[in-house]
Amino acid sequence: MRGVLMRTTLKIVLPLIISVAVVSMLFAAYQVRMERRNLRNDLSRRAEILAESLQETVEPLLDHGPNKNLQRIVARFGQREHLKGVAIYDISGAAIAITTGLPASVQTRPAAATRGAQRDEAYGEFLTMDSAAPGGQASPGLMHLFALPLHRNGLSAGTLVLFHDASYIETQVQRTLRDALLTATIQTLLVSLLAFVLVRWMFTAPLARTAKWLRTLRTGQPHAPPMKPQGEIFDQLHQEVTHLAHDLNAARATAEEEARLRDSNVSIWTAERLRVSLRSKLQEKPLFVVSNREPYLNVYSEKNNSIEIIVPASGVVTAIEPVLVACDGTWIAHGSGSADRELSDAYDHQRVPPERPSYTLRRVWLSNEEEKGYYQGFANEGLWPLCHIAHTRPVFRPEDWVHYQRANRRFADAVLEEMQGTDSPILLAQDYHFALLPRMVKEARPDARVAIFWHIPWPNAEVFGICPWQRELVDGLLGADLIGFHIQSHCNNFLETVDRAVEALTEWDRFAVNRQGHVTRVRPYPISVAFAENGHAVDESRNAGEERAALSNELGIEGSLLGVGVDRVDYTKGIIERFRGIEHFLDLYPAYQHRFTFVQIGAPSRTDIDRYKHFLEEVSAEAERINARFQAGRWKPIVLLKKHHSHEEISRYYRAASACLVTSLHDGMNLVAKEFVAAREDERGVLILSTFAGAAHELPDALLINPYDVQQVAEAIRRAMEMPEEEQARRMQQMRKNVREHNVYRWAAHLLSDLTEIRIDAQERIEVPLLP
Ligand code: F6P
Repeated sequence: MRGVLMRTTLKIVLPLIISVAVVSMLFAAYQVRMERRNLRNDLSRRAEILAESLQETVEPLLDHGPNKNLQRIVARFGQREHLKGVAIYDISGAAIAITTGLPASVQTRPAAATRGAQRDEAYGEFLTMDSAAPGGQASPGLMHLFALPLHRNGLSAGTLVLFHDASYIETQVQRTLRDALLTATIQTLLVSLLAFVLVRWMFTAPLARTAKWLRTLRTGQPHAPPMKPQGEIFDQLHQEVTHLAHDLNAARATAEEEARLRDSNVSIWTAERLRVSLRSKLQEKPLFVVSNREPYLNVYSEKNNSIEIIVPASGVVTAIEPVLVACDGTWIAHGSGSADRELSDAYDHQRVPPERPSYTLRRVWLSNEEEKGYYQGFANEGLWPLCHIAHTRPVFRPEDWVHYQRANRRFADAVLEEMQGTDSPILLAQDYHFALLPRMVKEARPDARVAIFWHIPWPNAEVFGICPWQRELVDGLLGADLIGFHIQSHCNNFLETVDRAVEALTEWDRFAVNRQGHVTRVRPYPISVAFAENGHAVDESRNAGEERAALSNELGIEGSLLGVGVDRVDYTKGIIERFRGIEHFLDLYPAYQHRFTFVQIGAPSRTDIDRYKHFLEEVSAEAERINARFQAGRWKPIVLLKKHHSHEEISRYYRAASACLVTSLHDGMNLVAKEFVAAREDERGVLILSTFAGAAHELPDALLINPYDVQQVAEAIRRAMEMPEEEQARRMQQMRKNVREHNVYRWAAHLLSDLTEIRIDAQERIEVPLLP
């Protein structure tokens, strides 16, 4: 391994070393060239200045032919800083005065000086000449000769020639060359060493670790990811590799799980089984889903000027996403993220999940006014409190009703557009936002199989009768071939409402409604979660105690026992009742003060609606009031986290908590209860669950409570805190078995299987006249 690492690093670094060496050499050559040029220019300039200054002194002395004064001048300037000597020649080229020691070859005017004299201008030249004095040893060297014509009375009178010894220039240049080569060599060595270390540290070593990791994965041993290399490219590579590894792990886990199940003869639904089953049931046709809430919101983030992806806190999203990932298809939903348009294509499509695109999200755009009337108004101020009976009065405004009808039409049109080109398409509509849509779709596409799943409770007929448009809503729903509720009692309530609201034949024996010859089946399908074994993208190496310590540390609190609640801040969730139960528990059992802390993750929800805005304030005030009563030092009984948390963040709390409190005043199902159970691979922790949540029908091993009864809540918390580990394990095993077997794939499989088995063209046509 080490040898491979070294060779790979060298292969990357070698071209770099050669390049650095070549560049350094070229640079050294350039430096030498410049040095030589500068020194020569400098010498030429000095020679010129000196010649010109001598010219003025020498010219008046020329009238007297060779004389002492001239000889004195040339003697005085001989042998000065590189100046070898001076010679004065007459017009014929014979020396009139010359510094002793100048070579014999310049006793007569040298050819270069003659050239200057002929042109009557100053002339300089570097030449190699014998520098030996008359009678001395000949030794050629570089000389600089500068010749300046002399005049008398406007006529040429001779030539003044300065001889400089230029050999020092070459010496200097050699020195510079040597220094430059040395610097280049040191530079090359240092850069190479640095490059070697950096490439190895930042590139080859992380790649080698990743390769090792991949190899470990391939051979089937789970392994912690390698230390994450830094940098954008590595981030992307790491992300891709992580996804690949997760996919590999998931595929392996699924295969193992299926083999195990085959072996134990237990029939459990998995993503793969659903995919295979639907492929034959849907005959390769895509699945269409419509819901108000979209699974991925793209939101402009002011924090770092980027686009953030948010998975909303929504039961619909938790349940439907794994089904779509398993089967592909198109999910039509309201585009409510501020950056959604930017990430949708010309057809308002985006392939999601963003990190592993598996299906198409088609967005429908609504104006603020439409959203206010249809979603905030009719759906959430009217139908939501009507169906939940949580003592918030429903509000039904005619103008909201108009928007509700129009929005149903808008979404139905989008669904029909997406269905174009698909024969006998399958549509799974979601929730109370779309009661009118099934009939709208069915009228345009009688060949479509349409199901709607109602995620919230259906109240009894008297209560539903409050709604001024109950007949229209029921009639719209009866456009569907199949209507699903979480539990049987909601189905019963619905059939009773049908009986009262519209003209139809209600067939109680087979739970169907025949209206004008069209039959609608009504069935319970308890919704669930994916229950992925080893499927959490969190650090699973910590046990519950370590995770609790880590979370307490992050929150800056003390407390050895942790309770958790996870909800949208909604008045149906019983959050205030829960807090009062905790308060009562601490009053009754003061020994738990300073020990028990309850973390409430509260995702703010529907805050444009006054009731929700005020409810958020009420919840905060209640937490503060209780904290003020008990708080001491770094301990406080309630930590309220009023912000959206990702699945991974929530999962940490689930795994760290001694108890999870679900105290809904009324809830269709409540998937938090099931998520908590699915997260507890350690088979520890206690679920405290409201009997008014649909989940209570499936999880009798939870501690079931009436959330309005503070005493019961307090007692349940005490029991949970004191429950022996064996009892926790026994209850948790039962609940996990239940959630594993009744997972969301089973939910989807049963619902879609029932839907696909409906024979559209063979429905009984028992005409029942419609009421006007
Ligand atoms: O329970 C009904 C429901 O649609 C859930 O599916 C979901 O948890 C919740 O309401 C989401 O509400 P909203 O989409 O209004 O945020």
